Amino acid sequence: MLELTRDMLTGVAKIDEQHKELISRINAVMNMGSKSASPEETRKTIDFLNDYVIKHFGDEEVLQRQAQYPKYEEHKKLHQIYIGEIRKLREEFMANGPSPKFAVSLNNSIIGWIVKHIKNVDVEFGKYCQTKGI
Ligand SMILES: [Fe+2]
Repeated sequence: MLELTRDMLTGVAKIDEQHKELISRINAVMNMGSKSASPEETRKTIDFLNDYVIKHFGDEEVLQRQAQYPKYEEHKKLHQIYIGEIRKLREEFMANGPSPKFAVSLNNSIIGWIVKHIKNVDVEFGKYCQTKGI
């Protein structure tokens, strides 16, 4: 189970709330394996995660533009990479089901990536907001 730890808090209420929801949707995908869910259920759960990732990144980017965040463009590029990773995960699942490769992608490209992203670049944006008094 992935959890939102203290070092993942940005201090921006909207972002922190959305990160919680994001993590709960990632956990739902992780749980599909242990529940031996049907391929259809797993695909739907991946899509449910994907929808929220797109919404959340969009909202985060709006906040960054409003805050005139100087690292907006690089941050947005990272978001696009992640959306691509979820697409690959979905394709991998559709092609081979819950294979070891799927588990590795889920652990590294989806879970590992987002934890690092939140702890580093999102927290950095949170600090920027604090210094700007936003
Ligand atoms: Fe982000």
